[in-house]
Amino acid sequence: MSIVIKGGTIVTALDKYKADIRIDGEKIVAIGDDLERDGDEIISAKGCYILPGGVDPHTHFDLDFETYSTADDFESGTKAALAGGTTTIIDFATQDKGKTLNQGLDKWNRKSKGKTYCDYGFHMAISDWNNSVSGEIEDMVNKGITSFKIYMTYKNILQMNDGDIYKALKRSKELGVLIAFHCENGDLIDSLIDEAKSQGKKSPKYHPLTKPIEVEKEAITRLLQIAEMANAPVYIVHLSTRKGLEEVIKAKLRGAEVYVESCPQYLILDDSHYELEGFEGAKYVLSPPLRNKENLDGLWRGLKLNEIDTIGTDHCSFNFRGQKELGIDDFSKIPNGIPGVEHRISLLYTYGVKTGKIDINKLVQLTSTNPAKIFGLYPKKGNIAVGSDGDLVIWDFNKSSVITAKNQFHNVDYTPYEGYEIHGEIQHVLLRGNRVFSRGKIIGDVQKGKFIKRVKLGGVNSNV
Ligand code: URP
Ligand code: ZN
Ligand code: ZN
Repeated sequence: MSIVIKGGTIVTALDKYKADIRIDGEKIVAIGDDLERDGDEIISAKGCYILPGGVDPHTHFDLDFETYSTADDFESGTKAALAGGTTTIIDFATQDKGKTLNQGLDKWNRKSKGKTYCDYGFHMAISDWNNSVSGEIEDMVNKGITSFKIYMTYKNILQMNDGDIYKALKRSKELGVLIAFHCENGDLIDSLIDEAKSQGKKSPKYHPLTKPIEVEKEAITRLLQIAEMANAPVYIVHLSTRKGLEEVIKAKLRGAEVYVESCPQYLILDDSHYELEGFEGAKYVLSPPLRNKENLDGLWRGLKLNEIDTIGTDHCSFNFRGQKELGIDDFSKIPNGIPGVEHRISLLYTYGVKTGKIDINKLVQLTSTNPAKIFGLYPKKGNIAVGSDGDLVIWDFNKSSVITAKNQFHNVDYTPYEGYEIHGEIQHVLLRGNRVFSRGKIIGDVQKGKFIKRVKLGGVNSNV
């Protein structure tokens, strides 16, 4: 049986127009007028926008540390993704220090297998560089993992030195893969933390003082210099500062291939949250930290001017009770990260499109089309076109609601957006032609998400 979606307005990265969509099996097979035939299942999208399913290029589900793991695993995380109009996530599988990339991948396969409600892929985070890891990059590519991540911070756990970054970038260029970078200077951060603690500064409000703007700017400048020497493209995750973005713009003018991701928290939440009473500021401890209004405005400008390519979430949730509280006497022990996969698109609509900062096509570009292109999922994902996967979200942007910890799908005991109004109520989500979410409910209890082997990296201008 075919599905026909009738009466909606299709929105892509470039267009906005009224038409029906016909889906056969997993694919879109026709777009046009009056597509209904006898026996079709009809879904009405009257008065609604139909967007391509969101692609969140940055989640951490079931990320484990020595004694604890993130609050959301692949089950709750991918349910929350669907509830927020995201049909594909790319999570960070991680190599533990001293282990191989294949061991890291096996671990992430175990964590995710049979648990995902939306489609998914992995980037592979590299924590050790050596000849055998260099060889394993090719194994990863053969297994559908065509992007990697390197941290310039989190010393002794994940941080990589400049020499190894250079070698990794040379190898990425050789194989045509992309490395994403967490740009903060980990050595400087550790010294600033020591300095703060030696002065008795141990509450959450000191977290941002140990990760100032310069720490991000310096790491970005250094990375771009190394990338130019290696002649390799790079992707910068969770950019939080205007100064960092200005370094990217300078490098692009020199001809560098750099992609930039930011996140809703760096556009909507400012650093006044660290002044909250008692331990409340711990809810906003993440890296990089929240910034002041000047930076928020500078990033919105960057979105409008195509200086920022994608909006991911960096969803990395820890419960306030029991997990964030690990740092009750010492901010540097608070697990870093916040939830967000469920609210990415509605937040961007409410605080970006509705306020006139960006238009709806730009929203689609940032949250679906560009991540799909950059990470080798396009045109299967990230578009509404004949031949693309039937990943569609029917949104009623006239409806609004308020975010609360109680009404979220995230499996975490707080939300950094408590009390924030959002516009956009999802009527239906289709994943490869299957209706998987309708009016506030996951349909059935079947995990329909599939691992998507990514083959080729496109870049934002690609049409492959
Ligand atoms: O605070 C954050 N961002 N935690 C998640 C891990 C990372 O740095 O991306
Ligand atoms: Zn990071
Ligand atoms: Zn992250």
